[in-house]
Amino acid sequence: MITGAGQGLGLALVRRALEAGHNVVATTRRVEFPITDPRLTVLRVDVTDRQACHVAVERAVAECGRLDVLVNNAGYGLVGAIEEVDEGEARAIIDTDLLGPLWMSQAALPVMREQRSGHIVQISSVGGVGAMPFFGLYNAAKWGLEGFSEALADEVAAFGVRVTIAEIGSMDTEWATGSMRFSQPKNVYDAIRAERLGTAAVPWPHDPGATGGGTSPAAVAERLVAHIADPEPGRLRLLIGEDAPSQVAVVLDRRAREYAAQAHA
Ligand SMILES: NC(=O)c1ccc[n+]([C@@H]2O[C@H](COP(=O)([O-])OP(=O)(O)OC[C@H]3O[C@@H](n4cnc5c(N)ncnc54)[C@H](OP(=O)(O)O)[C@@H]3O)[C@@H](O)[C@H]2O)c1
Repeated sequence: MITGAGQGLGLALVRRALEAGHNVVATTRRVEFPITDPRLTVLRVDVTDRQACHVAVERAVAECGRLDVLVNNAGYGLVGAIEEVDEGEARAIIDTDLLGPLWMSQAALPVMREQRSGHIVQISSVGGVGAMPFFGLYNAAKWGLEGFSEALADEVAAFGVRVTIAEIGSMDTEWATGSMRFSQPKNVYDAIRAERLGTAAVPWPHDPGATGGGTSPAAVAERLVAHIADPEPGRLRLLIGEDAPSQVAVVLDRRAREYAAQAHA
């Protein structure tokens, strides 16, 4: 079962899982879904709607008889300095990127516990490990996702349920282009915005239909499906993408040095 499957990584995962011979339940908010397949069930779900998440899992189990894998993929980014983000924008991104995976996980857990097997895959980011100026709310949502998922992994291992946090680097989807949302800018941040983001323009310029560059979603999907088929023992966090290891290393080295300097606090 894959959320936010209408395009990007979600759609690539649907394709890869079908190729690998699995039955797939895809959730989307769209009326039209780009592919049809006898082994594909498409459900209309907005992951911010907790009740809809529970109904979708019930329907998935009714359709397939069980639920082996849930991939919480639905999510988007928001560009805005902390001072620029308004209440609606903050609540909306937390609702989608943090609470969406929480509601879907809560809906799937009773099924997986009863089966005494299951795998919940949380699509996080290198931005779930480090933070970047103007991405604070996205970082907060993904850090939150990682926090509850790390706790969850230890809570449910004894029931045969596995959790993977996929920390993906730059990926060639519309995440950074057509899907990106932007807060109303305050001019005082323009200089730092230009320095850190390469442009002071809000929204940042992109050609219609352009993607952001980075690893192809098909390659990321391939890696994920291989990991799910044969999970690396003891691996909670899965780094995906050429830039991902160096991105997290920079962040963690800096944090380790900061803590080491306070060894006798
Ligand atoms: N691209 C990157 O560089 C990158 C890097 C690291 C992590 N990620 C993460 O990868 C995941 C997939 O993103 P992507 O790169 O494939 O971007 P994308 O092409 O914009 O796809 C994101 C999907 O999220 C779904 N979505 C957004 N809001 C939703 C909501 N309220 N309810 C249900 N679905 C919602 C949309 O699904 P529908 O339109 O089908 O409803 C959309 O297909 C996200 O969690 C993103 O944060 C992306």
